[in-house]
Amino acid sequence: MKEKNNIRQSFNARALEWKDGDFKNLLDLGCGSGEIIFELLKNNKVKFAYGIDFSEKMIDLAKKEAKNIKLEKKSQFEVKDAENLNHLSKNKFDIILAIGLIEYLENDQKFIENIRKLLKKEGILIITVPNNSSPFFVLDYIITLIYRLFKNNFLTKNIFNFIKYKILKRKSKKEIKPFPQKTYNPKKLNTFLIKNGFLIEKKIFNLYASEWLARLFPNLLNIFKKLEKLENSYFKYWGKNYIIMAKKIE
Ligand SMILES: C[S@@+](CC[C@H](N)C(=O)[O-])C[C@H]1O[C@@H](n2cnc3c(N)ncnc32)[C@H](O)[C@@H]1O
Repeated sequence: MKEKNNIRQSFNARALEWKDGDFKNLLDLGCGSGEIIFELLKNNKVKFAYGIDFSEKMIDLAKKEAKNIKLEKKSQFEVKDAENLNHLSKNKFDIILAIGLIEYLENDQKFIENIRKLLKKEGILIITVPNNSSPFFVLDYIITLIYRLFKNNFLTKNIFNFIKYKILKRKSKKEIKPFPQKTYNPKKLNTFLIKNGFLIEKKIFNLYASEWLARLFPNLLNIFKKLEKLENSYFKYWGKNYIIMAKKIE
């Protein structure tokens, strides 16, 4: 979705600002179509990037794009499950990204142990999760819950459809995506990373928006974009997306 991409891109821009080191090998887990990898390669932030995603469709898109923009020698994409990374060499990566991934995984403990093995000494992990203490998250959750409760009721289903297709003139008949299986409390996630041998170097919040409302009323996107300024205020914790940069320590 166009609106959503804009939000994600604003995140990507922020993530790029973080990297001031010279990273050789990057691993992007749940890389999707490789958008972030290509940005990093184009900006010479990394020398080589591996992208892993279990969606064949996404990896195909990434491979095609790598060819189009002549970055296939600097990148490698594979269809693999991020919960089974045994095929990758240990102590290989200077930096690992897990952007919008771990909320879909079954076992965070196993995942973080694998990450530690793959990272070089003092390697960097950048991870993003849905922040369940954000009011925007709570708002989206309530709207989704109401939608789910009523979507199968004959009358409300028709009302929803009338609003969606007739008033808002939506064309897509796609089912609204379910919420990520897991959400995170920022403090608990910090503690989890520290316990597993990471030093938290940076943490930021972003996405001061209700994606649900933005989907229904795209004009709200301009207001939501302005709310990104909350990041510099007391209300920074309201961001729906929590981003951590952590360093592997002994
Ligand atoms: C929200 S998207 C994020 C994509 C990309 N990281 C970005 O920020 O644009 C999550 C991605 O993780 C992938 N994914 C989810 N579970 C996975 C798993 N167990 N192994 C590999 N990829 C997975 C999905 O296919 C999807 O492309």
